[in-house]
Amino acid sequence: MDSLESAKRLAAAAALELVEEGMQLGLGTGSTARHLVQLLAERIHTRGLRVECCATSRDTADLARSLGIEIHDLDDLGPLDLAIDGADEIDPKLHLVKGGGAAHFREKIVEKAAKRFAVIADSTKIVTALGTTRKIPLEILPFAWRTTCRHIEAIGAKLQPRLGKDGEVIHTDNGNLIIDADFGPIHDPATLAVKLDSVTGLLEHGIFVGMAEVAFVAYPDGSVKALRPV
Ligand code: A5P
Repeated sequence: MDSLESAKRLAAAAALELVEEGMQLGLGTGSTARHLVQLLAERIHTRGLRVECCATSRDTADLARSLGIEIHDLDDLGPLDLAIDGADEIDPKLHLVKGGGAAHFREKIVEKAAKRFAVIADSTKIVTALGTTRKIPLEILPFAWRTTCRHIEAIGAKLQPRLGKDGEVIHTDNGNLIIDADFGPIHDPATLAVKLDSVTGLLEHGIFVGMAEVAFVAYPDGSVKALRPV
């Protein structure tokens, strides 16, 4: 395992310490969340941990089931005790950019349904301002999507449809389009999030404001810090 993957696994292992017997959990999506699912499966099988889980994507549900973790619909669980997920960018207030894996819509639904939301990441995800290293993923209804894009451009973004290997715009698990938006460094993510929330046809954006309680961040020296919003 290379050092970046080791860091992701260390961050996932740190967050796993929050998991207690009988909890209802939301499982994130992406390469870091993948480690979490693997470690959780180990704990279930070796220590008999009993938890009830829902997933933020088909990929995560498939992985979890392949490892013997039963996956429930969020609607069939109560308020979740804890959700754990990766992020593409983390700012000092633990505002996040998510959606690098096109799963941010389901992630936001699951993570808002959780009493606690913990982020897991390697230290490359830490930024002083969102939008510095990543564009903001937008999930857009295919109907009249170019019209929706014009409304978003009017807010000040340069937009780029995210293309798959086949050269076509990527569709999400929900059947919608992914467009990446470049706003440059975002100094007031809360205000931008409200503006984006008001665009009809834009179903969900990848800015997660004030949702994360803690971020477990793994550094190249093997240390893991639990960061809290400042
Ligand atoms: C999925 O759409 C994303 O929100 C991921 O959680 C995020 O991109 C982090 O992924 P990695 O752990 O693969 O960097």
